Amino acid sequence: MTNEQQIEEIRKFSYNKMVKDHTGHNFDHIQRVVKMANRLSNEEKTDKLITLGAAYLHDVADDKLVDDPAELESEIKKFLKSINLNESQVEEIMYITHNLSFSKSLSKNPPKLSLAGQVVQDSDRLDAIGAIGITRAIYYGGVNAETIYDPAIKPREKMSKAEYRNLDNETIINHFYEKLLKLTGMMNTPTAKRIALHRQQFMYEFLNEFKSEWLSEN
Ligand code: ADP
Ligand code: NI
Repeated sequence: MTNEQQIEEIRKFSYNKMVKDHTGHNFDHIQRVVKMANRLSNEEKTDKLITLGAAYLHDVADDKLVDDPAELESEIKKFLKSINLNESQVEEIMYITHNLSFSKSLSKNPPKLSLAGQVVQDSDRLDAIGAIGITRAIYYGGVNAETIYDPAIKPREKMSKAEYRNLDNETIINHFYEKLLKLTGMMNTPTAKRIALHRQQFMYEFLNEFKSEWLSEN
């Protein structure tokens, strides 16, 4: 099998796993992340099979989406071996998908990623900001019955992973301050940073408009 054929097999595997998701992690998110990962991979000269493979698989075993992530991870491993990836390719893809999430980066010792991993992480983070990021946050908030906005609830400064997942006192607007506006400063690669700055500007405009309307100022 050529690398292109292996990537196509991974795409189909990911599609079958993600097609039912309705939390904003659905397959169109995956396709955007893959497209961006391909673009950043061209800039950073990372291995295409590792980069695009990890991009396709990065949310398949997400602990928000499946009851037993470990079981899914072993299923993914088996699948990758069945399409003839070697041991080190399987390990690198698994390491990236296991360690790239924002919630992992909240831990005391955030995992260190290879350049291919950094490219996939940047691509996932870019999809959380800008116009699409705004839409996804609202969609996620709706699915989880989050309050839209409450000026009396202040954004949380430091959060553990458990606190991040606890939505009792969460608002959609606070999610921007707790996560989305921090992502630009966390980008790994220069191209991602440049794209992020543009998207961040748009989020600030959105928040300004939102708050003015809330106060009936415009
Ligand atoms: P990761 O998979 O990198 O840990 P998340 O699961 O935190 O990322 O986020 C997935 C998507 O859902 C992102 O677009 C994110 O901004 C959005 N999201 C996560 N938590 C919230 C929240 N409390 N309110 C609104 N949107 C959220
Ligand atoms: Ni993702």
